[in-house]
Amino acid sequence: MPSMPTTPRLALGKPDYTSLVFPDPPEDRPYIISNMVMSLDGTVVIEGTERGLGSPTDQLLMRELRVNVDVVMNGAGTLRASGTSSRVTPELAPLRTARGLTPHPRAAVVSASGDLPLERLFFTARDFDAVVFLSDGAPADRRTAIEATGRSVVVLPAAELLAATLRHLRRERGARTLLVEGGPRLLGGLVALGAVDEYFLTLGPVVVAGNTALPAAVAPRTPSIADLERYDLVSAHVEPTTSELFLRYRAQRPGN
Ligand SMILES: NC(=O)c1ccc[n+]([C@@H]2O[C@H](COP(=O)([O-])OP(=O)(O)OC[C@H]3O[C@@H](n4cnc5c(N)ncnc54)[C@H](OP(=O)(O)O)[C@@H]3O)[C@@H](O)[C@H]2O)c1
Repeated sequence: MPSMPTTPRLALGKPDYTSLVFPDPPEDRPYIISNMVMSLDGTVVIEGTERGLGSPTDQLLMRELRVNVDVVMNGAGTLRASGTSSRVTPELAPLRTARGLTPHPRAAVVSASGDLPLERLFFTARDFDAVVFLSDGAPADRRTAIEATGRSVVVLPAAELLAATLRHLRRERGARTLLVEGGPRLLGGLVALGAVDEYFLTLGPVVVAGNTALPAAVAPRTPSIADLERYDLVSAHVEPTTSELFLRYRAQRPGN
């Protein structure tokens, strides 16, 4: 049954995402919010990464969202393309420590193949904790190489890698809130599980135009009207200095 929509907040200027309040999580997964930046024509990648689609204000908002969560998660594709981290800024870290949290949330990556760029910050940094959720189909030597970086590796059944990852985070690591920062394939898998509770989207004032091979924000799904996940608008901020639109949506779901 759909939840009752509340009146959305519409405002001018940058939102403040540093003190968000979320409902209690279900028993088998954290409460999940996602964050993506998209061009006006719905593209989330240009020249192989998301860089260039969002402004420094969008980058700051991404870090503000991290202030509120226990875990920041990416798919392995994004780690390979862009590198990933869960760091907030030095100015934002005290907001977390004042709440009894670590300065930065834990970072997580999901991979079926185990083909990961081990020289990246995700593996070399020591100011944030990070964990790799690896399918049991990944070659043993890749698992060994990942473990040699000092990062923990959780091996889970390939057939239900995402659901098992969420269960593990909630039950074994006590994660109550999870921020998914893409990419589209990971986000698509989570949407298919009905697990994306809130959807933060930045609409950037650029048109990429033309290349249909470039991914949209959520993939892959077989389009069907009956399967659409429906969301209510919670807030929309228009930032005139960057011409960006910062949108927050919440899933129409009992309990949200
Ligand atoms: N505009 C934005 O806001 C934004 C945000 C993030 C990323 N991006 C861009 O998106 C691109 C990457 O997106 P992507 O969709 O190709 O990759 P992705 O979603 O980051 O990662 C996909 C990979 O994650 C693992 N994975 C995800 N879901 C899985 C599942 N259900 N079961 C098993 N493994 C799973 C697999 O890893 P293995 O391949 O290792 O098996 C899979 O190939 C990059 O170009 C990045 O720059 C854009």
